[in-house]
Amino acid sequence: MTLVKRCFSAGVWTLLMGCVFVAHAVTFEVTDGNSTCIKAELNATFSISYNTTNGTSEAVFAMPSSASVGNGSSCVPPELVMSFGPGHMISLVFSSDGRLYRVTNISLQYNLSDPNTFPQSSSAGVVSVTTNSSDISARVNSTYRCFSSSSISLSAGVNVTFSDLRMEAYMTTANLSTDESVCSADQTFTTVAPTHTPRTTAAPPTPPPTPDRGNYSVTNGNGTVCLMALMGLQLNVTHFSKSLNQSVSEVMNLQPNRTRASGSCGVTVASLTLTQDQTDLTLTFTLNSTTQKFRLSAVNVSAFWSDMTDRFEASNVSLDLLQCSVGRSYMCSAEQTLAVVPSFSINTFSLQLQPFNVTQNRFSAAEECHVDRENMLIPIIVGAALAGLVLIVLIAYLIGRKRTHAGYQTI
Ligand SMILES: *[C@@H]1O[C@H](CO)[C@@H](O)[C@H](O)[C@H]1NC(C)=O
Ligand SMILES: *[C@@H]1O[C@H](CO)[C@@H](O)[C@H](O)[C@H]1NC(C)=O
Ligand SMILES: *[C@@H]1O[C@H](CO)[C@@H](O)[C@H](O)[C@H]1NC(C)=O
Ligand SMILES: *[C@@H]1O[C@H](CO)[C@@H](O)[C@H](O)[C@H]1NC(C)=O
Ligand SMILES: *[C@@H]1O[C@H](CO)[C@@H](O)[C@H](O)[C@H]1NC(C)=O
Ligand SMILES: *[C@@H]1O[C@H](CO)[C@@H](O)[C@H](O)[C@H]1NC(C)=O
Ligand SMILES: *[C@@H]1O[C@H](CO)[C@@H](O)[C@H](O)[C@H]1NC(C)=O
Ligand SMILES: *[C@@H]1O[C@H](CO)[C@@H](O)[C@H](O)[C@H]1NC(C)=O
Ligand SMILES: *[C@@H]1O[C@H](CO)[C@@H](O)[C@H](O)[C@H]1NC(C)=O
Ligand SMILES: *[C@@H]1O[C@H](CO)[C@@H](O)[C@H](O)[C@H]1NC(C)=O
Ligand SMILES: *[C@@H]1O[C@H](CO)[C@@H](O)[C@H](O)[C@H]1NC(C)=O
Ligand SMILES: *[C@@H]1O[C@H](CO)[C@@H](O)[C@H](O)[C@H]1NC(C)=O
Repeated sequence: MTLVKRCFSAGVWTLLMGCVFVAHAVTFEVTDGNSTCIKAELNATFSISYNTTNGTSEAVFAMPSSASVGNGSSCVPPELVMSFGPGHMISLVFSSDGRLYRVTNISLQYNLSDPNTFPQSSSAGVVSVTTNSSDISARVNSTYRCFSSSSISLSAGVNVTFSDLRMEAYMTTANLSTDESVCSADQTFTTVAPTHTPRTTAAPPTPPPTPDRGNYSVTNGNGTVCLMALMGLQLNVTHFSKSLNQSVSEVMNLQPNRTRASGSCGVTVASLTLTQDQTDLTLTFTLNSTTQKFRLSAVNVSAFWSDMTDRFEASNVSLDLLQCSVGRSYMCSAEQTLAVVPSFSINTFSLQLQPFNVTQNRFSAAEECHVDRENMLIPIIVGAALAGLVLIVLIAYLIGRKRTHAGYQTI
């Protein structure tokens, strides 16, 4: 097996925690014979806490452009080892289910004996840290691309940040596929790449895909399900964009498999909190015992997305949405927009929920939203109109037949 390496400098200046250095996008290629199986272009910066003779210190450094494909790289199983400096290296291990491939394991080795990177280190030698929690995954035969910075914690005080990342494993051709799997941080800003070389032609911004439908529930103290919700949610936040230096509306889909549900059930108040990474959304339902109806009465949101300058927080406790009779479940198959505050709204898809009187883990009879009822009316109206038309034609035919008959009799 021959390992080939090519490098180029993107010449991007990065100012990070007081250290100024040139961050290079470095290209790596793992080959087996003449065929390339992994190719990656990326910037990596490291931030590592270590003990010094008089306390603790933090080393912040970028992967130099002299980094190269290191020993241990292989096509089967796919592993890319990037080594640099005296004994430092970071490796990415890939796996695939045939449809998607993902980074299953990121390991970092750093050499505390390197006095230029770890001055006054109280210990010496190589330290290894590993994590298997990375959200890097892409469709097979597509290039994973994430220009936005994404930080991964390998252990307490040890972080790596990737940016300007384009990478493909399980390659069948020598070049990165033009089909891209774009990371969620990049998705709403496909036209913006201010710090990047013009090697990619920006795609026009596409509307975000319909969110997957999640199945969320809350259980009460004795373990019975007391609140159920089946729905796809899309959050629409208007915030100040770091990259564009202006206010933008950014849309994010909640991914059910990365979202945790919690909450509480009371006699007249029930709440559902959905948490995905740095995003928290709480829906509060209130039961009006006079009218025997419940409604979505309050929404709180707290989000910190990569392009935000500050954490976004919003709440409205005087809402009157998703109203429904108690003992029923609220259902809306059509897309619905819940306006919370001017800078925040929620788009719901294929929604069914019941915050009160859930019995035996099952939804009670559904009460449908207006849109759904109207959508159902259309086929009824069309059907009625068609039936009317058939009737008119039939009557006209019968009258015509009677007239002709009468005509014959006069002869
Ligand atoms: C690699 O390609 C060169 C020329 O392009 C060819 O001579 C050589 O046999 C190939 N090696 C393998 C292992 O396919
Ligand atoms: C630094 O030293 C303290 C105490 O000696 C130890 O608990 C800690 O794990 C060390 N930290 C690192 C990063 O080695
Ligand atoms: C540790 O010592 C170095 C040089 O000897 C000095 O620059 C640094 O400020 C000291 N750190 C602390 C926390 O005293
Ligand atoms: C760690 O760094 C020291 C000093 O640069 C060097 O002598 C040593 O060989 C390095 N260790 C490894 C495993 O490369
Ligand atoms: C990750 O890779 C490292 C080094 O290759 C290995 O020691 C470790 O067991 C792996 N961890 C997992 C969870 O696969
Ligand atoms: C990927 O591309 C190769 C070669 O074009 C093809 O054989 C394979 O079926 C493709 N795999 C998927 C999952 O599309
Ligand atoms: C669980 O507790 C709720 C009230 O908190 C009660 O209505 C329900 O009957 C209890 N279910 C079981 C199986 O004990
Ligand atoms: C997000 O909200 C903004 C401002 O209210 C609106 O213009 C935009 O159409 C919304 N986008 C989506 C996908 O709902
Ligand atoms: C952001 O925009 C303001 C006013 O539009 C301008 O004064 C400022 O220099 C801009 N900042 C950056 C970093 O572009
Ligand atoms: C979550 O689901 C999406 C879409 O089905 C999939 O692309 C992604 O890989 C999944 N993520 C995890 C961590 O399973
Ligand atoms: C219940 O609804 C009635 C009629 O809309 C209203 O007057 C009353 O204030 C509501 N009660 C609560 C507790 O919201
Ligand atoms: C909260 O929602 C109500 C009802 O939609 C609306 O009238 C009110 O303006 C909202 N409050 C804020 C702070 O936007």
